[in-house]
Amino acid sequence: MGVENIGWQIDAIRKQWGGKLLILGHHYQRPLVLARADVLGDSLELARMAARRREAEKIVLCGVRFMAESADILAGPNQTVYMPDPLAGCPMADMADYEAVKAAWATLMAASGDWRPVVYVNSSATLKALCGEWGGSTCTSSNARRVFEWAFKQGKRVFFLPDEHLGRNTAHDLGIAEDAVALYNPGQPAGGLDAGSLARSRVVVWKGFCLVHTVFTAQQVGKVRRLDPGAKIIVHPECPKEVARLADARGSTSQIIQYVWAAPAGSTIVIGTEVNLVARLAEEQRGRVTVKALLQSVCANMGRTNERNLLSLLQDWPASNVVRVPDAVKQNARKALERMLSL
Ligand code: 13P
Ligand code: SF4
Repeated sequence: MGVENIGWQIDAIRKQWGGKLLILGHHYQRPLVLARADVLGDSLELARMAARRREAEKIVLCGVRFMAESADILAGPNQTVYMPDPLAGCPMADMADYEAVKAAWATLMAASGDWRPVVYVNSSATLKALCGEWGGSTCTSSNARRVFEWAFKQGKRVFFLPDEHLGRNTAHDLGIAEDAVALYNPGQPAGGLDAGSLARSRVVVWKGFCLVHTVFTAQQVGKVRRLDPGAKIIVHPECPKEVARLADARGSTSQIIQYVWAAPAGSTIVIGTEVNLVARLAEEQRGRVTVKALLQSVCANMGRTNERNLLSLLQDWPASNVVRVPDAVKQNARKALERMLSL
């Protein structure tokens, strides 16, 4: 079946369902999937949308599993969340194991009781539930700074997980000195933290990372500066700190889009994030702004969704594609997500 025909069939089903069907598409999805989405967004916007559109009985999340789980946690009892490919996960989310996180929290709290967990939404529902239970908040790449500030205003220190780099970049944005940020390595006893570094730290970051964003290097930034000195460079905050600091700007996927749209005509923007978004921006800006990738980096999990498995889902609604977070987990996970949405 040709791609055009698939698109036409998807649209016909969307028309039948009207407002009772909501298709959400993350910015890293391929263009043919995004063309079928009702709403495009970064992970924060998609979570907000899932919480808002109560009339939609079926929510289809074209993204990765943690996004669909967040949608289910925030959805009402009349709503069911589906994924075109329920195996589209996020390796970074899997880097924070439930038992290891509990052990880390016990270590920190034994040293002093003044910690707030801040959990990146790129995490499992069970981890969000721990965060809610321990009085913490989730965050996304677009509001991490605000959530850190919320914790600091309460006189607390931040235990951030699972992305070391977003944690370090956010701490840096808030003017926190490098030696006040400690790394918790779950592979080492007590996370590899000694009493001195723990006492000094205002932020402890978990040793997790995104495979898609840690391929960007300071050398690549240097090469752009040499070959194209007029170009502006913007990167996602999941990039290592050396890259983030050499770039002209950093931001979530939506913030990168805004940056490009606000750029003056004739300029060149080099972007360090997943290549589907960069390619889409390059296409949209053709003839106005030159958009290039710092390096072509693909999120294979985002790429598991395509127009064929989207159509199959909409035709059959298989139970195996439903994403349902157990009620026992949902309650505390919702606390952590709702705290973020209220900030
Ligand atoms: P955003 O929060 O910018 O949408 O990023 C999601 C993500 O998975 C980045 O790797
Ligand atoms: Fe996970 Fe990275 Fe893919 Fe985002 S880009 S979904 S953090 S692997």
